[in-house]
Amino acid sequence: MNNKIDPDAIREWFPALRSADILLDNAGGSQVPRTVIDRVRDYFVNSFVQVGADYPAGKRATQTIDDARRVLEVLVNCGDTGHVAMGPSTSVLCARLAQSYAQAPIPGRDEIIVCQAGHEANVGPWTRMAAAGYTVKWWNIEHQAFTNPLDELEALLSERTRILAVPHVSNLLGRIDDARTWSRMAHAVGARIVVDGVAFAPHRAIDVQALEVDWYVFSIYKVYGPHMAAMFGTHEAFAEISGPNHFFVDPADMPDKFELGGVLHEGCAGVLGLPDYFNFLADRPDRTPFDRDTVNRAYDTMTDCELPLQRQLIEYLRTKEQVRLIGPLQTDRSRVGTISFVHRSKSSKEIVLAANEQDIGIRYGHFYAHRLASALVRDPEDGVVRISLVHYNTAEEIDRVIACLETLL
Ligand SMILES: Cc1ncc(COP(=O)(O)O)c(C=O)c1O
Repeated sequence: MNNKIDPDAIREWFPALRSADILLDNAGGSQVPRTVIDRVRDYFVNSFVQVGADYPAGKRATQTIDDARRVLEVLVNCGDTGHVAMGPSTSVLCARLAQSYAQAPIPGRDEIIVCQAGHEANVGPWTRMAAAGYTVKWWNIEHQAFTNPLDELEALLSERTRILAVPHVSNLLGRIDDARTWSRMAHAVGARIVVDGVAFAPHRAIDVQALEVDWYVFSIYKVYGPHMAAMFGTHEAFAEISGPNHFFVDPADMPDKFELGGVLHEGCAGVLGLPDYFNFLADRPDRTPFDRDTVNRAYDTMTDCELPLQRQLIEYLRTKEQVRLIGPLQTDRSRVGTISFVHRSKSSKEIVLAANEQDIGIRYGHFYAHRLASALVRDPEDGVVRISLVHYNTAEEIDRVIACLETLL
């Protein structure tokens, strides 16, 4: 078998996958390849000093941050259209972004549209703009097909809309939505779009240029890297906010003006271990510099690995009369392997805890998509059973999950 899709060769890269536990909580956070771990260790040993200093270790530290940013720029296909800012998490980056917009009002642009299907990270900060005089409007989802109706969005958008905040993929539903169409609709009325790509980025290649987005945020720790997040913004979008950084940071310094307190230095070192793993997935070891073609090929491999697994699990769940899938029934490329369901008589909690007893790492709840869970299921705290797989999971693991579920469902 080609090593691109040999699960054993892939799993060799992940020291944490040597345990017998089955990790299917990947939408919560993914594992890291050994090259990421090695880079973090090396940074602590050789370069763990303050950035910006002129002595050799200081120069190495500064270079590490710059190099990590270049990797992330390639990862999102930034090109020369904008910048990538880093931060501790998507929640923090979205909150800072909303605060920045609240401080930069435009007369007559006083409406925000938030999506019911969103994770609270890209919902709550925007609803709080009501305190700054904005009107918050809700784009609700259709409850049977779980879709975001375009005609409703059309009706909500107007010349007053400042921001449209949406998820690229809901972290409960798993469907890949048409963010480019949404961007075009927002731009047609002069609004900005903020896309939460957290549930998309572990599965498919982000392409901010193809999506025509203004802002795109994702969590690096769910894309096989350290616990950090990244936010792309176009030059124009960055230029209209001042950012949370200190007064003496030049507002023209993008994205520095957005990185209050700096970034996680050792995390940036870890990001520099990602290209090695992507090169492996793309079947072109030692290729430098990290480029877009490698990103696309690596994600093709990930998708090829993931699709049969999601098909196996969804087809099984569809045979269970007592089970209601919360999300699309499709098993094809239109979705990712984040699979949620409820049982008609059993609680999500009891199903998950019984699976956990058998060393199957899955979870239940609303997963911070509280508004969506409240709209779709009886009790948002009990929420859904979520099984979230990525390319390093295996058919044998899904067999074991199905065997376990067979006794529970
Ligand atoms: C879709 C989605 N958006 C945002 C977040 C928040 O990410 P972070 O933990 O980096 O704040 C998550 C985390 O689970 C998520 O799944």
